[in-house]
Amino acid sequence: MQKIPVHVFPTRADAATQLALETASLIKDNEAKGKHTVLGLATGDTPVPYYKELIKWHQERGLSFATVTCFNLDEYTGLCRDHPQSYWQFMHNQLFQHIDILPENIHMPSGTVAEADIPAHCHAYEQAILDAGGLDMQILGIGRTGHIGFNEPGSPIDSRTRAVSLDPVTREDAARTFGGLAQVPTSAITMGCGTILSAKRIVLMAWGNSKADIINQALNGSVNSSVSASYLQRHPNTDFYIDAAAASALS
Ligand code: F6R
Repeated sequence: MQKIPVHVFPTRADAATQLALETASLIKDNEAKGKHTVLGLATGDTPVPYYKELIKWHQERGLSFATVTCFNLDEYTGLCRDHPQSYWQFMHNQLFQHIDILPENIHMPSGTVAEADIPAHCHAYEQAILDAGGLDMQILGIGRTGHIGFNEPGSPIDSRTRAVSLDPVTREDAARTFGGLAQVPTSAITMGCGTILSAKRIVLMAWGNSKADIINQALNGSVNSSVSASYLQRHPNTDFYIDAAAASALS
């Protein structure tokens, strides 16, 4: 018995189509009620097909993002917005520059806040989420360490937005995009597990064999701090959208 509903799709494109449809319906339903939609977004390879689908919804089916407010999960410490590997750049290239979201509705932790100001910056990020009405829907990938956002092993279930050190496995996985391990930042600012769990709806996506073992642990292991994604078992409205390869370790 899976504790979290798992949807296994033939391809990642099929999963992305389904999730984009759900997102578009949420945006349109809220818009009809005169409400904004608050999305929590992820970076990395995983959500790229989903962002492609959202762009299609905008360009081909007229879906407007003018009533959408976005909060991203994380940003690398030390990278300015213009840095090619910053998540600010990633989100603009993969999604924001292709849709009609208003710049003032885009929120991401800053990678260049002075160390002494990080706690206040993180507190303000949490407050901004609350002021927006909370996260309607949080999109997640999963790291091979079981991280959601950059909540590496040991992150408490009630953790909030804060600075964290990146696990060596996470840095190794990022080395390719950074052109070498030495270039990968050692820390980041991330929403906490508690921030993520406060979302009304959560969908975690995962593709490929490299995620199969950690997906099995997150779904079937005990809820514990060595796999942050296992905390999602405690959330009442989480689904996993995965492809057959990522499902290959499930019994
Ligand atoms: C990204 C994030 C991470 C990634 C995870 C998977 O904002 O917070 O948790 O979702 O590292 O990365 P990919 O998708 O590149 O395998």
